[in-house]
Amino acid sequence: MRTADLIQKKRDGGELNSDEIKFLIEGYTKGEVPDYQISAFLMAVFFAGMTDRELSTLTDFMINSGERVDLSSVPGVKVDKHSTGGVGDKTSLIVAPLAAAAGVVVPMISGRALGHTGGTLDKLESIPGFRTDLTIDEFRQQLADLGLCFIGQTAQVAPADGKLYSLRDVTGTVESIPLIASSIMSKKLAVGLDALVLDVKVGSGAFMKRQVDARRLAQAMVGIGRRMDKRVQALITDMSQPLGYAVGNALEVMEASQTLQTSGPEDLTRLSLELAARMIFLARIAPTLEEAREEARRRLLDGSAYRKFKQVVQAQGGNPQSLERFELLPNATGMREISTPRSGYVSGIDAEGIGRASSWIGAGRDRKEDAIDPAVGIILEVKVGERVDAGSVLARIYYTREERLEEAAEILEGAFFISAQRPEDRELILEVVG
Ligand code: URA
Repeated sequence: MRTADLIQKKRDGGELNSDEIKFLIEGYTKGEVPDYQISAFLMAVFFAGMTDRELSTLTDFMINSGERVDLSSVPGVKVDKHSTGGVGDKTSLIVAPLAAAAGVVVPMISGRALGHTGGTLDKLESIPGFRTDLTIDEFRQQLADLGLCFIGQTAQVAPADGKLYSLRDVTGTVESIPLIASSIMSKKLAVGLDALVLDVKVGSGAFMKRQVDARRLAQAMVGIGRRMDKRVQALITDMSQPLGYAVGNALEVMEASQTLQTSGPEDLTRLSLELAARMIFLARIAPTLEEAREEARRRLLDGSAYRKFKQVVQAQGGNPQSLERFELLPNATGMREISTPRSGYVSGIDAEGIGRASSWIGAGRDRKEDAIDPAVGIILEVKVGERVDAGSVLARIYYTREERLEEAAEILEGAFFISAQRPEDRELILEVVG
């Protein structure tokens, strides 16, 4: 079989069979098919899409590119959560401890920054000492001890996703339903889960800009999960402005920590509680969704979710004190304010623009091998619907290097829309699939 023929077949809209997909995925995982050919293949998938059969087969081979982690020795119902990617979306850091504090076992396998969106692993690693590269034995042990562990895809677990994910990040091939669905579901299903809650983002800061595409993505993932006998539910949620106020790795850890201490932003708190409630419900810890919501709220208010997060940070090598003493987290050395020249209402915030500005200043990567700068990012001072006066600060950029500051500031300025009329409120949770 020749890789170039398979690229051409996909480019021309053909359906690849199981042997052909196996050849590409196994070959790439083993390093026998080079990056440049897989980049071309990904671009072909981006434009030509995939049939349901191709998507199932691709996901299977991606799962089987590594070990399937057997968690049957860990007592309890295992439920994970994953977001399709957003700006300021730090819910995993809040939702996982909320669910774990309620008794759900949460084997959380997360990703890094992708495109203009942030990644849970990068956020957690901004906590000095925090390790996400645990061995499978360490992962299992921590789940048995604490009911929650955060890891990423490794050379052992879903390695194909690890390689494809970082290649997509730098080749303009992120926003594709089959590529997102197979990426998420392969790493999630490589771990012995009982259920999964998906947060499918839609809007300017999401990979799916239209609700109809977000729905198709949600249906594709719910379908893959169901075929593997998992309980899967997807919420379609608004990402037309960043979630909360903080965008950037250490900045988001600070906001997540404040939220777990009950002083977080309203939108972030509300969505985190709903996602945690769905996990608690799918774990059958609460008999109804309403009772699961009460349980999630209780775990937030009684401080048990925050204590769980601190225990997990400590267990994974991080300093839990940094969750209260933010000077122990990486801190930027410079700050630039962006203000509005005119009065009115904030009628829109282009979340993708905010994500791009944050990534440009160092919170994301230009090339696969780049290191991110955990200290930098953006803090919004306003949200959509708020009234501002001429000269009001809209956002602050936190930076450590000045080279890209001007450009980042320009992107950020262009991301705010001010109008004379107050915009209509937008729902945060738009739809449930599954
Ligand atoms: N999250 C993932 O894990 N993969 C994607 O492709 C997008 C979001």
